[in-house]
Amino acid sequence: MALFGLGGSKTTVGVDIGSGLVKLVEIQHGKEPVITKAYAAPMLPDAIVEGEIMDPSVVADAVRGLFQTAGVKQKKVVVAVGGRDVIIRKIQVDRMKESDAYEVVRWEAQQHIPFDIEGVELDFQVLDPEGESIQMDVLLVAAKKELVETKTALLAEAGLEPAIVDVDAFALHNAFEVNYPEAMDGVAALVHIGHEVTNINLLYNGVPLLTRDLSVGTRKFREDLQRERGLSAEDAEAMLRGFERTPELDPYVQNRGEEIAIGVERAVAFLQSSSREAGAIQKAYCSGGGARIPGLAEVLGDRLRVPIEVADPLRAIRVKEGAFGTVPVDELAPLMMLAVGLALRKLN
Ligand SMILES: Nc1ncnc2c1ncn2[C@@H]1O[C@H](COP(=O)(O)OP(=O)(O)OP(=O)(O)O)[C@@H](O)[C@H]1O
Ligand SMILES: [Mg+2]
Repeated sequence: MALFGLGGSKTTVGVDIGSGLVKLVEIQHGKEPVITKAYAAPMLPDAIVEGEIMDPSVVADAVRGLFQTAGVKQKKVVVAVGGRDVIIRKIQVDRMKESDAYEVVRWEAQQHIPFDIEGVELDFQVLDPEGESIQMDVLLVAAKKELVETKTALLAEAGLEPAIVDVDAFALHNAFEVNYPEAMDGVAALVHIGHEVTNINLLYNGVPLLTRDLSVGTRKFREDLQRERGLSAEDAEAMLRGFERTPELDPYVQNRGEEIAIGVERAVAFLQSSSREAGAIQKAYCSGGGARIPGLAEVLGDRLRVPIEVADPLRAIRVKEGAFGTVPVDELAPLMMLAVGLALRKLN
């Protein structure tokens, strides 16, 4: 599924424009996908606030700079949109050929999305194409056109062009599915903890049924440490990017971990109320810069009472030597989940 697509080459460049870091992953699609480049560059503070681009030229500069550093010449890229103005819903419609379903799904979509259908990019996928019941399950995705337009304009300012505009939750799912096929049974939670936003994605039998955003990320942890421990921004950041749990950091990890866990529990409760067959979560995975915070994954797992691990978007994908430049791969890998998911999309 994609909201918009052009077609193109054998190499895909995925760009994840975050409020903390811009990330780029290049994948060559041969017999198997190979990551040929993976780079990140910091975003200036407050250029993006909670997913909203405040200063397009600053953001465009960061993107352009990253492409230069990485030595990527390709102009067509895959990006994603997310947040409140993207809606994902499982709906049911009378069974028919997928090619005939668009009008029906579009009509149905009006009952499920809280904004004007005219201002929306829509896509859908039949989840049980081989099914024999009278109705079929359809995964519907709708995003405000505005989101796609803003992203396109931003890329243009950076000298780039969108080959595909994906949705955050699907891109994360894409990377996750390739690397964790064993998580495609029952209910799994993927908790992607960024700089300002945490995306909670619930998968049921491999289908990304529910996505929710929380306004928590590494920034809040850092601000806790600055405010309550009197640390400088640099020292606080270093602690969050460290490798050890410490008594100084632990209370904040507990508190914010609790906040994230409650968000996951609410999402699970919602999923169970809307999808009767879905049971309890069996396993959770975390990714994003926040997944590196010492002790956070453990706190989440304990609180949710499920096994949890930090998801590695490179677990099943070959990485060309030197693709990460001089940065240690394991430090950056969890942050690359979304960008890997974008770059896994084939353009032709
Ligand atoms: N090696 C690293 N380099 C840079 N930042 C790191 C590193 N390890 C952990 N971090 C933390 O991860 C954060 C960025 O995480 P991530 O890239 O997932 O967020 P983002 O996508 O920029 O944010 P959002 O999606 O919320 O807008 C940084 O702000 C920093 O706190
Ligand atoms: Mg992010």
